Amino acid sequence: MARKLAAGNWKMNGTNASLAEITALAKAHPDPNCDVLICPPATLLSRLAEKTTGTAIKTGGQDCHAASSGAHTGDISAEMIADAGGSHIIVGHSERRADHGETDADIAAKTRAVWNAGLVAVICVGETLAEREAGQTIDIVAGQLAGSVPNGANGDNTVIAYEPVWAIGTGKVPTLDEIAAVHADIRDRLTTRFGDAGNDMPILYGGSVKPSNADDIFRVADVDGALVGGASLKAEDFGGIIASLERA
Ligand code: PGA
Repeated sequence: MARKLAAGNWKMNGTNASLAEITALAKAHPDPNCDVLICPPATLLSRLAEKTTGTAIKTGGQDCHAASSGAHTGDISAEMIADAGGSHIIVGHSERRADHGETDADIAAKTRAVWNAGLVAVICVGETLAEREAGQTIDIVAGQLAGSVPNGANGDNTVIAYEPVWAIGTGKVPTLDEIAAVHADIRDRLTTRFGDAGNDMPILYGGSVKPSNADDIFRVADVDGALVGGASLKAEDFGGIIASLERA
C-alpha cells in the first residue's frame, strides 16, 4: 500500500518572508495522517529544513545534478540537498524538461543520484496538450516511465507524479475519469515491472490542484496525493489540500 503524500513545489518563488507560511502550516497540521513535503527554491532549503525540524513537514529539492560534485557551475547535487536537510528531490518536472531540455535518460541518471544520496526521488511524467489531443497520453506517459524510472525503484525511494503539462498553472484539470485512466495505467506498469514494490510507490496527481478540487481528485483510485505548485505557496491553501488528503 502506498503512503499518502501532499507535496508542494514552490518553483522559483519564495524569500525569507515566505517561511512564515511554513510556521503557520506546521501549527495547523501538527500530526497529519499523510506525509507532507515542501520543495522550496534551493536558496531556502536549509532555512526551511531548520524551521521544520520537529514538525511533520519534510523538505525537498526541485532538481539536482546527476553527479555528486564537480565543475558544474550553478548546479547542486543530491548530496548537497541531503546535507541541507532535504529528504526528497523532484526530478523531471515538465518545466525542467522544457526549459532545460532534460531527457528521460537525464532524469534516470538524476534519480540514481538521488538514491545514492539516500533520498527519495519524485519523478514527474505527463503529456502536453497536443499529445493528449492526438490520443497519445498513455503512450507518452508509458514511455517517460520506462525511460525515467531506473531499475531498483521501490516504495521507499520513489514517488511518481503524473502532471499533464496543460494542467500545470492553468486552472484546467482533466476529468476524474481521465485522471483515473492514467493512474490505473501507471499502477499497472509499475506492478508489471517492479512486482509488489509497484504497489508501494505513491502516485501523485499534479496540475491545478486546489482546496476546492482536492476532495474529488483524492477520491480517484490510485491517486495517493498531489504535487502542488501555486496552491502550495499559502499555508491556508496547502493546508486545505492536506486536510482533503487526510480525509481521503
Ligand atoms: P500548479 O503546478 O499546482 O501550479 O498547477 C503543479 C506543478 O507544476 O507541480
